[in-house]
Amino acid sequence: SMLRSMESALRRAAGARSFSSGAAPGRKVAILGAAGGIGQPLSLLMKLNPLVTRLSLYDIAGTPGVAADVSHINTAAQVAGFAGEEQLGEALEGSDIVIIPAGVPRKPGMTRDDLFNINAGIVKSLSTAIAKYCPHALVNMISNPVNSTVPIAAEVFKKAGTYDEKKLFGVTTLDVIRAKTFYAGKAGLPVEDANVPVVGGHAGITILPLFSQATPSTNALSHEDIKALTKRTQDGGTEVVEAKAGKGSATLSMAYAGAVFADACLKGLNGVPDIVECSFVQSSITELPFFASKVRLGRNGVEEVLGLGSLSDFEKQGLENLKPELKSSIEKGIKFAKEN
Ligand code: NAI
Repeated sequence: SMLRSMESALRRAAGARSFSSGAAPGRKVAILGAAGGIGQPLSLLMKLNPLVTRLSLYDIAGTPGVAADVSHINTAAQVAGFAGEEQLGEALEGSDIVIIPAGVPRKPGMTRDDLFNINAGIVKSLSTAIAKYCPHALVNMISNPVNSTVPIAAEVFKKAGTYDEKKLFGVTTLDVIRAKTFYAGKAGLPVEDANVPVVGGHAGITILPLFSQATPSTNALSHEDIKALTKRTQDGGTEVVEAKAGKGSATLSMAYAGAVFADACLKGLNGVPDIVECSFVQSSITELPFFASKVRLGRNGVEEVLGLGSLSDFEKQGLENLKPELKSSIEKGIKFAKEN
């Protein structure tokens, strides 16, 4: 019975509440990099999501085992494993959402940009396949550096003539999850009620949590507290990289974050109203071509990119400080895609 209640809690977390499975259409989700540190627990969480009817697990190797394993879970999603490039097309065909956690993670001392040389090529080839086999799918990009891999995917899709800016998302949900946890912990608020928008990008100072807009609001936090919370949110990934001491970066919290974001995308596709999540998307709310902010999700992906709202002076300064780095990471991605 503890298992039962855990199962129902997970189902609730996955968003079953307002939709009976009979009412929702079938949805295929593909995970690229499904045998990895993020990919495996993310595969587990998507198998638990009642909105998923087909779950396609792709990696260069190891996916038959992961697929056999999660397929034994008694939920509706039909699981199939695909290994090696010759099976990538079949893995992608008919997908409504493609989640990409493929690529190498950080080791201590590395920045996300240090991953560029390896992950840029992986993202480019996977995006090329998406343009060919499921050009209308929503793409949830997890592979780092997100600030560059999202622009790379956009360029690949433009070249293929399939680019739809409403359907390409950099997954920044983990930054939001960290900001919520750290804020509630510091302010002594119930964490399940906490909400904190995080804008900008997904690396170091480009991660800008807006604690002035956090809810429930509190006056328990000093300016020094806010500065420390901002820094901890920006360095959250590094905190995990250092604690894992060479064994990789965040995988379990990232899988959870990826599952939350994909669930929001599924609900949006299914027409559930008022689904809002932060994400790194094509944007005109600043002068930069891509920017993370609150986004309203709908039947076609992005329904509306929401503005920044009012910022504290500290946040305004943070916004100006992050723009040069974010701009150069975006340009680096575009340049790579054009030259390779
Ligand atoms: P991992 O090394 O454990 O797993 C990566 C998987 O990708 C491996 O199974 C590998 O075989 C697979 N892969 C490599 N090339 C591939 C290709 N061409 N096609 C399909 N699969 C391929 O790494 P982990 O920890 O799962 O991290 C994956 C990525 O996620 C990294 O780039 C990491 O930096 C990023 N990440 C992003 C976060 C975010 O907030 N957006 C948070 C944490 C990690």
